[in-house]
Amino acid sequence: MFEALSVPPIDPILALGGAVRADARPDKIDLGIGVYRDENGHTPIMAVVTEAEGRLLVARTTKTYVGARGDTVFAGRVTELILGQSKSQWMTGIQATGGTGTLRILAGLIVRAKGDVTVWLPEPTWLNHSTVFADAGLRTATYPYYDRRISKVRVDEMLSALETIPSGEVVLLHGCCHNPCGADLSPEAWDAIAAIMSRRGLIPLVDLAYQGFGHGLDKDAAGVRLLALQLPELLVAFSCSKNFGLYSERTGCTLVVAGTAKKAALAGEHMALVARLLYSMPPDHGSAIVRTILEDERLAASWRSELETVRLSMVSKRRQLSAAFRATTGTADFDYLEHGAGMFSLPNLSPREIADLRRDRGIYIVEDGRINVAGLPSRRTADFVQAVTELLAKRP
Ligand code: LMR
Repeated sequence: MFEALSVPPIDPILALGGAVRADARPDKIDLGIGVYRDENGHTPIMAVVTEAEGRLLVARTTKTYVGARGDTVFAGRVTELILGQSKSQWMTGIQATGGTGTLRILAGLIVRAKGDVTVWLPEPTWLNHSTVFADAGLRTATYPYYDRRISKVRVDEMLSALETIPSGEVVLLHGCCHNPCGADLSPEAWDAIAAIMSRRGLIPLVDLAYQGFGHGLDKDAAGVRLLALQLPELLVAFSCSKNFGLYSERTGCTLVVAGTAKKAALAGEHMALVARLLYSMPPDHGSAIVRTILEDERLAASWRSELETVRLSMVSKRRQLSAAFRATTGTADFDYLEHGAGMFSLPNLSPREIADLRRDRGIYIVEDGRINVAGLPSRRTADFVQAVTELLAKRP
């Protein structure tokens, strides 16, 4: 039965991780997969997560099934985190498996609700987006988002493109900390987007995988909150992988605002059915940790403070990196690194230059040019800046 199988496409982010592991050079630098790392290259467990796990270990008496919707109290708490006071009456959400699993549930819901529809993705976007939607049977197309030659969001072009997308189609937006470019939309741009989408009947799908990593929990949710207030329908994919450091626990949540109570209830039922068909029921441990934290005022405060420490360390790394580039190149060409939000930035490197850095210096960058700033230990900043500057000096 396997004769007809051809070699599947390589996942560039996961494959890069394999290549890093296989590289024996002790001074290699891994700027690939999006995980937060401390100065020793370690991705720590948050202290508040360990405390919540301790409580769960004592309090839990069963590991029975949780149901296709998972933990609905968790979903409610996460919804408060996302929407704050902008909560809609007509919403529903289910627990899902990390950012990817959550997007896949929403993709399944879109197929069930609209069948033949295009999901519009920013160019560039996270490399898994188009494949997740395509695998669910959806068409994808792109709208302009970021100009890597000048390191800026292409706001005007993006707004013009939104004006041409047919009514009823789905537009994916990064809520904050854009992956891969780290360049976010200004409040004015969000206003303009909300106005166009509302006028044209477009449906926003906000990927919110980094809330708290950019400018803080509330500021990072300002865009999605605006859309929740101004549009009748909204889809949100929320991940706890980064802001709770629960990468391996596969913890996430969908949120759907659906216009009426009846439509919201139906959307919830269909998402539960999609979950049932994909994996039946989500794993419980990660959501139990998040719920334990968010239900307890003291733990929630500890979490906010730990998350803020992580955020500030990325802000300081960005400052350090762009200052080093300024000092070495004598230009402001790399200032976008400082102005970026979250983990990622997108230096304007060619595939050849990315390959050279990997071969000659053991510096690993995703093939689309994305670097994980949080993966660069401060003591290696100078090495990285030197390597990139030397490479650029060779350009014709
Ligand atoms: C990333 O973008 O590197 C992370 O979200 C991990 C992944 O699954 O790709």
